[in-house]
Amino acid sequence: MLNQSRYGAPMDVATGSPDGGRPIGIFDSGLGGLTVLRAIRREMPDESLVFLGDTARVPYGTRSPSTVVRYALACSSQLLEYGVKLVVVACNTVSAVALPALRNVLPLPVLGVIEPGARSGVQASLTGRVGVIATKGTIASGAYERAIHAIDSTITVCGNAAPLLVPLVEEGWTEGDVPRMAVERYLAPLIEAEVDAIVLGCTHYPLLRPVVDEVLRTSCPQPVTVVDSAMATAADLKRLLTEQGLRCSGSSIPGSVRLLVTDMPAGFSALASRFLDRSVPNFDVEQIDITTPAAGLSLHA
Ligand code: DGL
Repeated sequence: MLNQSRYGAPMDVATGSPDGGRPIGIFDSGLGGLTVLRAIRREMPDESLVFLGDTARVPYGTRSPSTVVRYALACSSQLLEYGVKLVVVACNTVSAVALPALRNVLPLPVLGVIEPGARSGVQASLTGRVGVIATKGTIASGAYERAIHAIDSTITVCGNAAPLLVPLVEEGWTEGDVPRMAVERYLAPLIEAEVDAIVLGCTHYPLLRPVVDEVLRTSCPQPVTVVDSAMATAADLKRLLTEQGLRCSGSSIPGSVRLLVTDMPAGFSALASRFLDRSVPNFDVEQIDITTPAAGLSLHA
């Protein structure tokens, strides 16, 4: 089941652990997962990261669970080829429907974003009414409701699918009348349900955060705390790496960041520049083909 890394397993000089120096693999259906990459970078700048955005096949949120599982398997098997020590699923839709399948077949730890997001929502709510906006797939899976109720079964969860927000973000259309009207429409039932915490249950949505804040300021009578899972995921990741003896600690040298996409890099580079606080030219983003899963890894879930 385990793939041999094409890039080998470099020795972590700081810890002496054979695995600690390997990169962390992160993947998303598109560019939204960069919100998670940024949080991980801030939490652990010494870790090397390989990020894969499946930009040729985004969106995942409107597809069937079995298709999402198949795509997720292809992305993770590709990351194994880069010698990663752990996989972060920086996509709510994949985390909602494919985590058990991935954990079943991958020979390394897999971390999703739903549990950290659910926990942040529960912590932020004083009234016990939590709203979630996410893709159709995530809402239909009931994953947030389950994760929130696993923490506190008395909480009322009001979820609403917000499918138009992903293409808006992918288009870079994150301000102005069109995204504001879409956000207003999607938040209306949550405001009506008097939630006091809203989880942005899709890694693309934090890019619309200024619009979300404006809509809540102008249309919501009660104070609402908006949370996303990126920071909580980064904190969970640090804990998991430490527990598993996989942390690349002790180095003051920033880790490397390798960016991979499955479609042309242009739009992705512009956004990556914003997220990494440095210019990311197109040639720094590699376009790869993942239609052929890596040999030796198949889904038997
Ligand atoms: N990144 C996905 C998520 O967090 C949204 C984009 C998509 O639909 O693929 O659910």
